[in-house]
Amino acid sequence: MNSVSPTFFIHTFGCQMNMADSEIVTAILVEGGFVQAEDEGAADVVLLNTCAVRANAVDRAGNVLSHLKGRKRRRKGLVVGLLGCVPQYEREQLFGDFPFVDFIVGPDNYRDLCGIVQKVREGERQQSLIKYDQRETYAGIEPVRANRISTFLPVMRGCNNHCAFCVVPVTRGRERSVAFGRVVAEVSTLQAAGYREVTLLGQNVNSWRDTDRSLDFAGLLEGVSHAAPEMRIRFTTSHPKDISESLVRVIGERPNLCNHIHLPVQSGSSRMLDLMKRGHTREEYLDKIAMIRKLVPGVAITTDLIAGFCTETDEEHRETLSLMEAVGYDTAFMFYYSVRPGTWASRNLPDDVPEPVKKARLQEIIDLQTAMSRELYQRQIGTTVEVLAEAESKRSPSKLMGRTATNRAVVFDRGNFMPGELVQVRITGATSATLKGVV
Ligand code: SAM
Ligand code: SF4
Ligand code: F3S
Repeated sequence: MNSVSPTFFIHTFGCQMNMADSEIVTAILVEGGFVQAEDEGAADVVLLNTCAVRANAVDRAGNVLSHLKGRKRRRKGLVVGLLGCVPQYEREQLFGDFPFVDFIVGPDNYRDLCGIVQKVREGERQQSLIKYDQRETYAGIEPVRANRISTFLPVMRGCNNHCAFCVVPVTRGRERSVAFGRVVAEVSTLQAAGYREVTLLGQNVNSWRDTDRSLDFAGLLEGVSHAAPEMRIRFTTSHPKDISESLVRVIGERPNLCNHIHLPVQSGSSRMLDLMKRGHTREEYLDKIAMIRKLVPGVAITTDLIAGFCTETDEEHRETLSLMEAVGYDTAFMFYYSVRPGTWASRNLPDDVPEPVKKARLQEIIDLQTAMSRELYQRQIGTTVEVLAEAESKRSPSKLMGRTATNRAVVFDRGNFMPGELVQVRITGATSATLKGVV
């Protein structure tokens, strides 16, 4: 190693799990003697923590890589590594597409990152480490957290489902959970350190289990909510087929479990849901929504939607629109179908909805959701909500931005309040994405 500590910078793409992983990677590198650089230009080692879920997510990493290719030519000794889901998915073939990449490391192999960087700095190129490790949860590594108020805690990793369109079971491997005692201890530590909110993460968080204690995710949520009564507890992502009445009851009963459930539906058509191998019908999903709304009054429900999946007809697309109206989502993540080589759908179903049709259907979905969000937010005007202030508003230092327990963004005149405080805010205005108010 140089006498001066080498510096690193991480670009993070993809989901919250990747953001949490970048905090773990940062901890591993700092422990190994590396120093975090303020920006990419100052770094000796540039890492891209990548996402493979849709083709355009991979393209985003590709754009950063093309610009790094130029920098690498100009700066001798610059090390470029790919982490996360793209290397696990595309494997060594990546070196063919990007010959200037020095190494690739998959999501289960970060503990060995410093060794691989060291080898590359000593002249060995095109190193790869992409072995699945079904036990790896990064237990015992204290992440270098980017946010001091609201943070993430992965409680399970991997996914055992087989959704026909999805690469995550390939990129993340089999499910494994962090033990109950460890999760509870970590959340208590976060509370003692002054954090005000934690989001428990899992690709499929309802599948969390502690078999030694015969506990399921409802048991975990209850335990965590008692262990950190001063903190807001969130969790994501829930799968509709696994969300149980006992879990929803716990959310309704415990005041610090946020009244927000992200419940991806993907499509409103039972035929599409069957082809997608989601394990439930439209009706079963709507029954779950009714159960949730009954047990958790005032709950906010959000979702993910895919437009133009294989063989989707116009009629089936309209079923998605009607389901959106029936549920009344707060917000949604909306995508058009992107065929992913290796998935069940790519092998067995025709990607036969023309791209312009996929895009037009997606636009209809977005327009409907925007209109519904705006109406729902307008209805909040005149109410008073509790907001956890997170940061100064990007537009004005005299305002704070925060979120309600239902995960609605609120911007308000700050007065004497500071980020980290809970503030009662009267809502005076709204767009489709933000509430505005006064203390
Ligand atoms: N585990 C979560 C679940 O079951 O809902 C979501 C995981 S995935 C990372 C996030 C979202 O990406 C999915 O809910 C789906 O809407 C979308 N997605 C996944 N694969 C896709 C594909 N091939 N094309 C378009 N969207 C996709
Ligand atoms: Fe992908 Fe389905 Fe697993 Fe979610 S539940 S990560 S969509 S396979
Ligand atoms: Fe993407 Fe991997 Fe997350 S594929 S969505 S970064 S689990």
